[in-house]
Amino acid sequence: MNVPELIRKKREGGVLAEDEIRHLITGFLSGSVEAYQISAFLMAVFFRGMEPSEAATLTRIMMKSGRIYDLSSVPGIKTDKHSTGGVGDKVSLVLAPLVAAAGAVDPMVSGRALGHTGGTLDKLDSIPGYRWDLTEEQFRRQLEKVGCAIIGQTDDFVPADKRLYAMRDVTATVESIPLICASILSKKAASGAEALVMDVKCGSGAFMASEEDALKLARQLVSIGTELGMKVSALLTQMNQPLGTTVGNALEIHEVLDVLEGKGPADTRDVTVELGAEMLVHANLAASHEEARGKLNGLLDDGSAMAKFQEWVAAQKGDPRIVENRALLADAPDRAGFDAPRAGVIQSMNTRAIGVACNVLGGGRVVSSDTIDHAVGLEVHLKVGAEVKAGERLVTLHHRGGKGLEEARKLLAEAIVIGEEPVKPLELVIARLDATTA
Ligand code: URA
Repeated sequence: MNVPELIRKKREGGVLAEDEIRHLITGFLSGSVEAYQISAFLMAVFFRGMEPSEAATLTRIMMKSGRIYDLSSVPGIKTDKHSTGGVGDKVSLVLAPLVAAAGAVDPMVSGRALGHTGGTLDKLDSIPGYRWDLTEEQFRRQLEKVGCAIIGQTDDFVPADKRLYAMRDVTATVESIPLICASILSKKAASGAEALVMDVKCGSGAFMASEEDALKLARQLVSIGTELGMKVSALLTQMNQPLGTTVGNALEIHEVLDVLEGKGPADTRDVTVELGAEMLVHANLAASHEEARGKLNGLLDDGSAMAKFQEWVAAQKGDPRIVENRALLADAPDRAGFDAPRAGVIQSMNTRAIGVACNVLGGGRVVSSDTIDHAVGLEVHLKVGAEVKAGERLVTLHHRGGKGLEEARKLLAEAIVIGEEPVKPLELVIARLDATTA
């Protein structure tokens, strides 16, 4: 097959056949298709899109590019959640132990930070000792014993996604609906998940800024996931402001512990419970979302979710004493304030810029080889719709010796818009879709 002809076909809006997609993907992995050719292909997909059946074929080919976990020996319906990526999104770290405390089995495979968004694996790295590199057998045994595990992608697990994602990250082709669907669903199907709730983030801090695009993405995730044999639903959730009050790896672990202690910001807790309710209904552990919410709120309030968190962290060699002794978490040596330049009401937040502000402090990667400073980040004290006085503290920056501080302040000054108009607090869950409504 002639690779430039395949690229040209997609460039002209054609629909690629299965053997053509396979030729491109397997060729890229084996080295017979060059990186510059796959970049051109990705850009053609970015502009021309893919038919749903074509995206499903790409997903299947990617899923089969490496090891597929067999969790059939683990009793129960394996149910998982995946987010399309946001700022301050620490949900997975509360959700996995929470649903496991409710009797669910959650085989979670998570990723690193992408662009301005945070990554669950980077957050987990700020728990001293935590190992996310379990073998398949260790993963399976932990799921049987604890009910949840959060691991990272290895070289032989969906290598096509690993390679393609790295390519997309440096060729401005991340924000493509078929490419996002194939990337996420290939991993979920290969991880042994039988049911999935997608947290499709929508707003300025998400890859899909408009509700229209986020809905399109959610529909395709549900329909391709269903075609692959999974039970899938999707919630469109708010990303026009950071989730919760912290952005940055160790700071987000503090918030996770707060929520597991039955405290913490309401939006983080509520979105976690909403996603968890989907998972319990998928796994037949609750007859209705209402019943599931009641169960999950009870497990947060009575300490069961926290006990499961400690069991899970210890099982993966992390130090569970962080719960009683938060001084074990990394702490930045310096603090600075970002205060309201005028009185008024917070009209909007450019959430992407807030994510970038955390990155420039050292909390994320600007290039993939960067190492992350787990201690730095932001505490966001007030959100959209809040009335503020001139000089009131909006954000506390946790920094190291001023690194990135001025640039972060500049980003915040542009990101947080204060005006006169009253603004309603933003709704947390914007829409819900499943196979019957997608
Ligand atoms: N998360 C993924 O795993 N892949 C994407 O393409 C976007 C978010």
